[in-house]
Amino acid sequence: MAKTINFFDTTLRDGEQSPGCSMNKKEKLLLAKQLEKLGVDVIEAGFAASSVGDFESVNAIAKEIKNSTVAVLARAVEDDITKAWQAVKEASRPRIHTFIATSDVHMEYKLKMTPEEVMDKAEEMVKYAASLCPEVEFSAEDATRSNTDFLAELFDRVIQAGAKIINIPDTVGYTSPDEFYNFIMEIRKKSKYLDSVQIAVHCHNDLGLAVANSLAAVKAGATQLECTINGIGERAGNAALEELVMIMHTRKDIYDVEMNIVTEEIMNTSRLLTNITGVLVQPNKAIVGANAFAHEAGIHQHGVISNRETYEIMTPESIGLTKNKMVLGKHSGRHAFKEKIESMGYEIGKEELDKVFTEFKNLADKKKQIFDKDIDAILTNRGTRADDKYKLVRYVINSGNTITTIASVVLDKEGNEIEGMSSAGGPVDAAFSAIDKCLDIEVVLEDYSIQSVTEGTDALGFAVVKLRYNDHNYTGRDTSVNIVEASIRAYLNAVNSIFLD
Ligand code: KIV
Ligand code: ZN
Repeated sequence: MAKTINFFDTTLRDGEQSPGCSMNKKEKLLLAKQLEKLGVDVIEAGFAASSVGDFESVNAIAKEIKNSTVAVLARAVEDDITKAWQAVKEASRPRIHTFIATSDVHMEYKLKMTPEEVMDKAEEMVKYAASLCPEVEFSAEDATRSNTDFLAELFDRVIQAGAKIINIPDTVGYTSPDEFYNFIMEIRKKSKYLDSVQIAVHCHNDLGLAVANSLAAVKAGATQLECTINGIGERAGNAALEELVMIMHTRKDIYDVEMNIVTEEIMNTSRLLTNITGVLVQPNKAIVGANAFAHEAGIHQHGVISNRETYEIMTPESIGLTKNKMVLGKHSGRHAFKEKIESMGYEIGKEELDKVFTEFKNLADKKKQIFDKDIDAILTNRGTRADDKYKLVRYVINSGNTITTIASVVLDKEGNEIEGMSSAGGPVDAAFSAIDKCLDIEVVLEDYSIQSVTEGTDALGFAVVKLRYNDHNYTGRDTSVNIVEASIRAYLNAVNSIFLD
């Protein structure tokens, strides 16, 4: 009988740790619900002891998610584990994921502990976690640079202490597929109890081998793969979920496995993550890149028209990629709009529908054709919130190639209008510094980008702004057919996020 591969998604934890990918509680909850729809078996919701914000996000996700296990990360430290349990205990299926480093270099220089101390600590903390939570996962950080005799003994002790899942991470993305296969087989041979629990792997992509190494681990007996959407994660990222899933889906002849993933939700999940973080997927990225199903060369196009199988090894529909259909126009009614967004998988209440429908109508006045991607952008990038401290009232930009650009921005700050004026080389620069003049705090612009949501000169512009304040990063985003307005709104969205913390 085919074995089942479980997917452990760590986009909200390892993924969120990567530069530019931080998310607030609301965004994490939105993504967690989409991950549940995608069918991931385990959602790693965060690292509860790392901050109050992380604790609250894990707790909110634990209360909301019903069909996936909700895991929370904790170092092998009593206080971390106590906090992890407090955050996750209301989940339908809670899991504590505790870890300690096991390579010589980590034990000596990071932990400053002897191997015996590490072994004792791991055993004690797994026992403690298991006394609180019905499911405990143990990870040996930097396992692939650790000694196999040491790992086998350590795993046996934590399994006897209550660990049900043993994770063998390639923390620094150092191993290769053959080596990893042999490494896992060797530990299995040396360990007495490893085969009685689930083996997991967690591969980083420093040498571009995260997916290949995870697949080698499947051959060596791993049945839980830890991965992220779009492959985001520390440094070069983690193994990409969509790649692992579609390899095993497309090459059933090689990988005779079952999975619970709804492949048709892959594209929606990838787009949602991009919309939330503003971190774009490279166009030639496997599975979810914009060019992954584009046939450019005439000879390829001809082949695909005659028979798709000439150049397509999987269908775009299998990952939920639909044509960028024209959906609605300015004469479309509320009912048609509601049906459309429901068919795209969004569930929203009456009050929110009213707001979104007004935004849709405003957009339809400015843009001839409204596509699925426009609707996605309206629904996931609404930058303005009722409780925002600063709201845009109006702005004027005077710009040209023979004059200095001057911007005037008027904001509503908790009921009072304030105006900032500034001049600069270009309209966005001038507008941002005009906004700065209205603020009581000093923020630093870390990153700014703008891209069009669809083709055409009347396309929506999607602006993403990353600000730094008090050692924290804040991301803002918004869309508008006017790219300067999208940029101003995204900037304000980032500023207002500071006050939500
Ligand atoms: O990369 C790693 O080793 C980790 C562990 C905490 C599982 O992220
Ligand atoms: Zn990791």
